Amino acid sequence: MQERLEELKQEALSKVEAASTLKELQDVKVAYLGKKGPITEVLRGMGKLSAEERPIVGQLANDVRAAITEELEKKQEIVERAAVEEKLAAEAIDVTLPGRAVNQGNRHPLTAVIEEIEDLFLGMGYSIAEGPEVEQDYYNFEALNLPKNHPARDMQDSFYITEEILLRTHTSPVQARTMEAHEGKGPVKVICPGRVYRRDTDDATHSHQFTQIEGLVVDENIRMSDLKGTLQTFAKKMFGEDREIRLRPSFFPFTEPSVEMDISCFKCGGHGCNVCKGTGWIEILGAGMVHPNVLEMSGFDSKKYTGFAFGMGPERIAMLKYGIDDIRHFYQNDIRFLKQFKRV
Ligand code: DAH
Repeated sequence: MQERLEELKQEALSKVEAASTLKELQDVKVAYLGKKGPITEVLRGMGKLSAEERPIVGQLANDVRAAITEELEKKQEIVERAAVEEKLAAEAIDVTLPGRAVNQGNRHPLTAVIEEIEDLFLGMGYSIAEGPEVEQDYYNFEALNLPKNHPARDMQDSFYITEEILLRTHTSPVQARTMEAHEGKGPVKVICPGRVYRRDTDDATHSHQFTQIEGLVVDENIRMSDLKGTLQTFAKKMFGEDREIRLRPSFFPFTEPSVEMDISCFKCGGHGCNVCKGTGWIEILGAGMVHPNVLEMSGFDSKKYTGFAFGMGPERIAMLKYGIDDIRHFYQNDIRFLKQFKRV
């Protein structure tokens, strides 16, 4: 019987040794220590033993049980720890792995240029005025000294919605609206950025939709020299301190006199190159002294008040500044184009 117990012990211990999962250990436990296991069976047969043998065998059986139990517990701990380690290894986070780059957007180059111009004029004490893109014929033309059938209306081929309503062809109607809102009292000092529409065929330099920034100053004693100084400051801030400006006589129905402003070429400094087409000068904007009719129509006394106005195209300015050769790039929003203006 003692031998049998020893045998069972060895058998059980080698099975514990061989077990590698909790399930296998449980099976060994049930097989050897369970109620129907061989050790219990041995103990059940103890009745047949002599009184001297009984305690010895009993002790041995208990020792065998204890030894197997101890080994089972030890092994169980090992198996459990291994399972935890395996889990940790499987779920490990590699903190040295480089992160995934998040695609960061940037301001649209046109927005950047518009904001740059806005900041410049805000710094000179202007405020920003806005008006509707769907505009009345009255503000777009009539209040700007362009009565119906005026030939200069042809310069701005328009998208009409009804006979009296159109998509504004320029930002100048905001001049009229702003003056009207001032009810004949100066000073008025605004810039008006916004989208405008014309029935043009799209090509590298034309678009049926583009942006403009209008400027308007009305007060007592505003002179052409104020306009010139303002435009000069603008040109230097926008295109570099060495820029010279020149004003050429021009015509706009809403200004008298009217001028067009050129800046000395920022690429060649005025000697002539491909940017200035060999002339040394680049045309930037239209401007002039607000026509007395325009002042009067919007409620200002033209004997007391004078003013100047100007209008420019941010697309053209951005194209010149960044060497962009096609206006359509601004609207196609090709990411390869937009990405080039990350730090603008
Ligand atoms: N509205 C003109 C245009 O779209 C631009 C312009 C010229 C605006 C002269 C002005 C100005 O205010 O004084 O062609």
